[in-house]
Amino acid sequence: MSTQVTAIVLAAGAGTRMKSRRAKVLHEIAGRPMLAHALAAVRGAGVDRVVTVVGHDREQVTAALAGIDPDATVAVQEEQRGTGDAVRVALDAVDEVSEICLVTYADVPLLTPETLRTLIDEHRRERRAVTILSSEPEDPTGYGRILRDPSGAVVAIREHKDATEAERATREVNSGILVADGAFLDRAVRALSTDNAQAELYLTDIVARAVDEGLPVGAHVLEDVIQTEGVNDRRQLVRLARELNTRIIDRWLAEGVTVVDPATTWIDSAVTIGRDTTVLPGTQLLGATTIGEGATIGPDATLRDVEVGDEASVVRTHASDAVIGPGATVGPFTYLRPGTVIDAGAKAGAYVELKNTHLAAGAKVPHLSYLGDAEVGEGSNIGAGTITANYDGVTKSRTSIGRHVRIGCDNVLVAPVSVGDGVYTGAGTVVRHDVAAGALAVPESGQRTIEGWVASRRPGTPSAEAADQTTQENIGADQEPQ
Ligand code: UD1
Ligand code: CA
Repeated sequence: MSTQVTAIVLAAGAGTRMKSRRAKVLHEIAGRPMLAHALAAVRGAGVDRVVTVVGHDREQVTAALAGIDPDATVAVQEEQRGTGDAVRVALDAVDEVSEICLVTYADVPLLTPETLRTLIDEHRRERRAVTILSSEPEDPTGYGRILRDPSGAVVAIREHKDATEAERATREVNSGILVADGAFLDRAVRALSTDNAQAELYLTDIVARAVDEGLPVGAHVLEDVIQTEGVNDRRQLVRLARELNTRIIDRWLAEGVTVVDPATTWIDSAVTIGRDTTVLPGTQLLGATTIGEGATIGPDATLRDVEVGDEASVVRTHASDAVIGPGATVGPFTYLRPGTVIDAGAKAGAYVELKNTHLAAGAKVPHLSYLGDAEVGEGSNIGAGTITANYDGVTKSRTSIGRHVRIGCDNVLVAPVSVGDGVYTGAGTVVRHDVAAGALAVPESGQRTIEGWVASRRPGTPSAEAADQTTQENIGADQEPQ
């Protein structure tokens, strides 16, 4: 059975103007490389096969592609001899040319599957040899111009460098994205010449050839110009990233999510958000983060690969690879590191850092604590300033705290250590040994006070002077007549 639609994604170009060690198409917007956006667009359009043409930085691009779309065929273009040559290389990489070929660029990240679908559908409906995606940007400088005859029929594409002044006045330009009949494309790219201003094999020359052969060609003008814009430098990268972010936020607004300040909110393309959730200013929802319904996120929360349950509240928090259960409250000023799991209704409060720690339902760590490699049972409360000493300099050890435990303020739990269900500990306890269920653990010795220590051991210091003054005043007060 022959493959119906093959997508050819061109990614062999150099990207010199990015001034980067990283391949241009691996620069990210909305949390994924431009290459991944391009592949998501063609896959979303429902193509049967994808061939990606690599050249510059091919090791980097090929390695990334294996993670992005392992089913895509990689074709290597040894020398960048032009877009026509790149398509020829792609066709050489498949054993059978499909009925239709879709050509796109890996550095055009805002293109949607819907646009590609429309283009393929129109191409089929009109039974054309070639259908170009064109647009009318404010400034057509640099682009190939779509040349039409007086009847409006497309007759050729003229590259800017080859165009006459009159041809350059044409506003309609070639986006570079096109759909072509497979057999025609295969024949046409093998017959291209380098007889042009750049001495390249222009893919665009297939249009004039189709016209010469009497085959139908056409162009679909896309109103939404930015979808066809490519990235050559970092200015364009950040501009398109901003625009994509606006579009992503717009989609969530339409889905019933309130994003109070789109200008300071960044949401990656893979993020999902439930209805009636409110996202407050300064928030970044990154990676594969998922947010439930009715949650409040922000202000100023940065969540990467975090799962947040319904009705949870996450205020001024930095979190990654963590799970925040339904109705849980986190923040302000909370740092959740990988492996943190906060169950339903539990709380991680102000200036709390958690790493690889599980807070069971209703457990609370309200203030100024660090818990690492710890298990906190249901309904337990951790006093302010408590720390798990989970690292002895060589190995990390776990702390286990049972259900409905009351850890006092300023405790140090020296791991590995286990505290049983229902235990109480006094303020300032250093818990070095396991505590059995229902016990009270308090510091071993009480407070020892040595009178006059400062005057004898720290004479002449501001502390000694302050202490001396107080002593004098007290003596004076004692001597005042009643
Ligand atoms: C191309 C089009 C032009 C169009 C413009 C839109 C041609 C001859 N011209 O011009 O009509 O208006 O895109 O941006 O097609 N590439 C390869 N191998 C190569 C050459 C290019 O893979 O040998 C890839 C590049 O990585 C890039 C894409 O093809 O993704 C376009 O190449 P580029 O050099 O930017 O084409 P333009 O000259 O801008
Ligand atoms: Ca370009």
